[in-house]
Amino acid sequence: MDVRIDPLDERGLADLLDAAVAGADPAEVLPAAAGATWDDGLRARFLAFHRGRALAPDPVERTWVVRADGDAVGALRLEPGPDGDEVGIWLVRDARGRGLGAAAVRQLLGPGQLAGPVGAAGTPLVARTTTANRAALGLLRALGAVTAPGTDGAVTARFPSDDHG
Ligand SMILES: CC(C)(COP(=O)(O)OP(=O)(O)OC[C@H]1O[C@@H](n2cnc3c(N)ncnc32)[C@H](O)[C@@H]1OP(=O)(O)O)[C@@H](O)C(=O)NCCC(=O)NCCS
Repeated sequence: MDVRIDPLDERGLADLLDAAVAGADPAEVLPAAAGATWDDGLRARFLAFHRGRALAPDPVERTWVVRADGDAVGALRLEPGPDGDEVGIWLVRDARGRGLGAAAVRQLLGPGQLAGPVGAAGTPLVARTTTANRAALGLLRALGAVTAPGTDGAVTARFPSDDHG
């Protein structure tokens, strides 16, 4: 399967919304209450979320559409935070557990992608998840990230420094 990551644009955003509505829970793809289901309001919030962040005139993060054989199957985000640039990823249910998450993040870490104001060389690359998210922990460990437990089930992860930039 051909996996690639494309920088988010308006066309990619439309594809991403279709994928999210068809195959992911709102709370997996944007700040939404656990158990929320897709409706017109949440669709609008999804678009506004990305237009106010990666697609804003002064972006606060970078986002890529994960494509498998050309189809949008998820998103990768990179957001500056206090401990470094934080990676976030979600995939549609049908795409999970097939190596696509690892392939997508490896592309992000590969040459060229991280040039720019967010994701500058030398900035630590981190991730946050929870002890309950076995898939995210599996992905992080497969990528060589070192995980550390925090409070209330939180887990922070740090990628090997030579992976960034
Ligand atoms: C987390 C997520 C992005 C992982 O991507 P994925 O494509 O499913 O993961 P991969 O298939 O690439 O697997 C990567 C590693 O994690 C392991 N893994 C994947 N799913 C797993 C699961 N449910 N339980 C335990 N390990 C798992 C794989 O075995 C693999 O390890 P290996 O290389 O040692 O075999 C995906 O499951 C997802 O979108 N989940 C919902 C959204 C989410 O939770 N995002 C993370 C928020 S912090």
